[in-house]
Amino acid sequence: MALIPMEEILADANEKNYAVGGFNINNLEALQAIIEAAEAEQAPIILQTSEGAIRYINMEYAVAMAKAAAEKASVPIAFHLDHGESFAKIIECIRNDYSSVMIDGSKLPFEENIALTSKVVEAASAVGVSVEAELGQLGGVEDDVVVEEKDATLTNPDEAAEFIDKTGIDALAVAIGTAHGVYKGDPDLDFERLEKINNEVDIPLVLHGASGVPDADIARSIELGINKINVNTAFQQAFTAKMREILEDPDVYDPRKICGPAKDAMKEKVIEKIRLFGSDGKA
Ligand code: 13P
Repeated sequence: MALIPMEEILADANEKNYAVGGFNINNLEALQAIIEAAEAEQAPIILQTSEGAIRYINMEYAVAMAKAAAEKASVPIAFHLDHGESFAKIIECIRNDYSSVMIDGSKLPFEENIALTSKVVEAASAVGVSVEAELGQLGGVEDDVVVEEKDATLTNPDEAAEFIDKTGIDALAVAIGTAHGVYKGDPDLDFERLEKINNEVDIPLVLHGASGVPDADIARSIELGINKINVNTAFQQAFTAKMREILEDPDVYDPRKICGPAKDAMKEKVIEKIRLFGSDGKA
């Protein structure tokens, strides 16, 4: 199968009330872990790269890996830019065959976020590429996206409807109390706010910063309209913990003997998330 637009994957999730993983890749083994897990669980998948991951992997390599994975896989796969910061980066990704992009204008004033996002939707929709945008700002660190706790703002439900109306986006990332990266305390999700947003809008909603969120909160979020859930940190932690364990043996020097088991450890974590999100068996 070729890479498909995220919109096609999320339409089914929205209709049947489950969530699809928006899983970040930072290297080849991460991609292998996600694809192997998706195949084992027969789950649709949204592979995504941050701008930092693109710098690390190289855009042509990243796209080639995702395309090769999609060609071989029996499950639907979208390839998505996570937190695109500029119109130029969005166009570069579209030209390089990403099937989906996120424009993150969340730190801009409302009207400017609308203007930038609308421009992206006009360009992307002309070539069948899906668009995710964000309203409100998550605290924490996700590669280049760094937001101090004091600057984090939750999504305003009334603004959400207007934003979707004026921009024509395919999916909206909401800020309801999650944070990127490792949590400092326990996450405190504002489900009332999520319910209000969900009542106001029809398109799939996206939850970022899901790594440290308890399973019960994830389940509740899905009931209240979340159809895409982004995970990066939890997978990196699973991968690195296994590497540390192996590296305790000073005689190990072959990277395949370190990264191979690390990939398998990450795969287990991906399977856990796929089952939690209810996307197993939905391919
Ligand atoms: P975590 O790294 O907290 O899992 O968040 C991932 C994310 O939201 C990517 O956009």
